[in-house]
Amino acid sequence: MLFDGFVAVVDSGVGGLTILNNLQTEFPRCDFLYLADSSHCPYGTKTATEIKSRLRVIAEWLTLQRVSAVVLACNTASVFAEDLRREFDMPFYDVIVPTCKLVAATTVTKCVALLATDFTVGSKIYSKRLVQFGIETVSFACSSLVPFVENNAVKTSECDFALQKALRDLPNVNADTVILGCTHFPILKNKIMQYTGKAQIVQCVTDYSPQKELRRFGETIFFTTGDVAATEKASKFFPEAHFAHLNI
Ligand code: DGL
Repeated sequence: MLFDGFVAVVDSGVGGLTILNNLQTEFPRCDFLYLADSSHCPYGTKTATEIKSRLRVIAEWLTLQRVSAVVLACNTASVFAEDLRREFDMPFYDVIVPTCKLVAATTVTKCVALLATDFTVGSKIYSKRLVQFGIETVSFACSSLVPFVENNAVKTSECDFALQKALRDLPNVNADTVILGCTHFPILKNKIMQYTGKAQIVQCVTDYSPQKELRRFGETIFFTTGDVAATEKASKFFPEAHFAHLNI
């Protein structure tokens, strides 16, 4: 099974489909291989060693498949983009650097709020990068929200309760920009907007742009390392996604 020339789009689960959606629109003739590492989701509450070892397994498999590039459609994984670039002979695109550039172009007051996983917040990767643009970041560790997306439970009162617990102080920070620094969070955007007031919401972006892959077939293949039925249930917002199981 070789996916020569495909662009891999990788997330711990279904959140990265929000990035895939933009990539498919922007580059309709690229072939994409979406990989949900659902059997190891969530990443955001794991240790650096655990996340890195999963990313290595995935990168090794993608190298064997001869994909042309890897888009890390996950902020938590993007923390390790530099390590992966050093270790593997493949282009890796992260979501953090381009998103910070977009944030810098969006904020006027230079006070922004970051909603991200516990790991991304703990890594301080956003705040360190944004301070170079003179931007102050107030971070909210929101790993508690990820399972509601993965379990297709965003419309439950438990999800509302978790949002209230995680975001109750958000309206007090006076940020003019709120970063959805986890690719699962656009799926909760309407609910998150109840806490953002007049602030602009910035969703993650990637700066992937195709080289020779452009003249291909516009095909997308979906894999999950977890349960196929559960992954498809969680990805109902992306009806095109029909997953096959991948054992890595
Ligand atoms: N979608 C991932 C991100 O952007 C995180 C979800 C998880 O914790 O696995 O960080």
